[in-house]
Amino acid sequence: MSTYLIHPSPVLHGEAQINTSKNAVLPIMAGALLCQSPVVLHDTPALTDVDSMAEVLTACGARVERRGRDMRITAGDLRQPEDAQAVQRLRASILVLGPLCARLGEGRVALPGGCAIGQRPIDIHLRGLKTLGAEVSQEGSVASAKGSLAGGSIYLDFPSVGATENLLMAAVLARGVTRIENAAKEPEIVDLADFLTACGARILGAGTGTLVIDGVRQLRGTEYTPIPDRIEAGTLACAAAITEGSILLRGARSDHLRALLFKLRETGMLVQEDSRGLCLRGRAKRGVDVRTLSYPGFPTDLQAPMMTVCCKAKGQSVFLETIFENRYMHAVALSRMGADIRTEGRMAVVQGGQTLHGAAVEATDLRAGAALMLAGLMAQGETRLLDEAGHIDRGYEHLDEKLRGLGADICKQ
Ligand code: UD1
Repeated sequence: MSTYLIHPSPVLHGEAQINTSKNAVLPIMAGALLCQSPVVLHDTPALTDVDSMAEVLTACGARVERRGRDMRITAGDLRQPEDAQAVQRLRASILVLGPLCARLGEGRVALPGGCAIGQRPIDIHLRGLKTLGAEVSQEGSVASAKGSLAGGSIYLDFPSVGATENLLMAAVLARGVTRIENAAKEPEIVDLADFLTACGARILGAGTGTLVIDGVRQLRGTEYTPIPDRIEAGTLACAAAITEGSILLRGARSDHLRALLFKLRETGMLVQEDSRGLCLRGRAKRGVDVRTLSYPGFPTDLQAPMMTVCCKAKGQSVFLETIFENRYMHAVALSRMGADIRTEGRMAVVQGGQTLHGAAVEATDLRAGAALMLAGLMAQGETRLLDEAGHIDRGYEHLDEKLRGLGADICKQ
């Protein structure tokens, strides 16, 4: 459990280094289960979700060794992760189902139920594995897939990130050719495909809506550095937008953040892209409309931080959350701090420009927690942000410390 005490911080200045991406590292760790020889991942972030995934891999029989920020994964003799608590803690543990089925002819994983932001079913994962020849079932919280996998033609009802990753990993060792249509196009999918290709997989079309995978008999290990975290960079860019000053986000990839950068420019921010990363100046002056979509649309993971920005900017902003059904819990806390936000189903209307006041608020999920930490920077008085479940540390490496490095007045208790 953590509590953050946040005081007004009107000016942020300086540089922050962007870490490697949580959402790229987790699937790549699952992908390491496909490899006969060790995988070394460089520069992995210190996040509790990464620790949990390491536990999941260990429960699957892999050896996970960390030296500094490097992680070595040896997936020799694999087994089913029976009774592992970490599996039930982490939604991304569904990503070991495809690799286990591909390596062992069977995968069995007990998953958490619905979570705060939505139900998060896994029907698309399971239907895809069935098309590849697996016998699939989901009884209670246990999902299983069994059988020798062969290539097939898969259409995803929705371009689910996790389902695309799971099916891609299953298909690289399946006999023959697999086509995945309406695949997710997120940069993390491209990164996973690049990693698997470096291990000897044959994949075409990563980053487009159609993936074509020619199965190979086995994969070898490799050394790999995952992409920078576009959500961490985007969150810090939103922090810049609610304060004055000038910050450089070293290593941030603007090509992964186009939708956010368009919106920040529309608010009146100055955004410059150069070889070092992203430079942000000024602050958000005008409200903007935001519709979350699959990549390259506006990322749902930045909807909450962007709502904090729109509380600062003057005028009306309309949000439409199309990816998750219950992702406005931060709106309740922001309203308690004095924001004018009305939500109705998947829509939220923000009348920006109100003065926020510090209050005791709670991080109900990872990105909501980050949004409230940012809100504390522009609120008058003290904001006490309680993060009982440690949501923020799951996905941001010392976000408070990074903001403090830029001049924010935050302390963690
Ligand atoms: C990933 C990211 C998460 C991000 C999300 C959307 C990781 C570890 N997490 O989550 O941060 O918010 O993408 O960009 O990378 N769905 C189904 N059936 C399925 C699978 C998904 O109905 O079988 C629905 C979900 O309930 C949700 C939507 O599809 O409404 C998107 O989910 P998905 O893209 O799968 O997200 P995740 O991979 O879980």
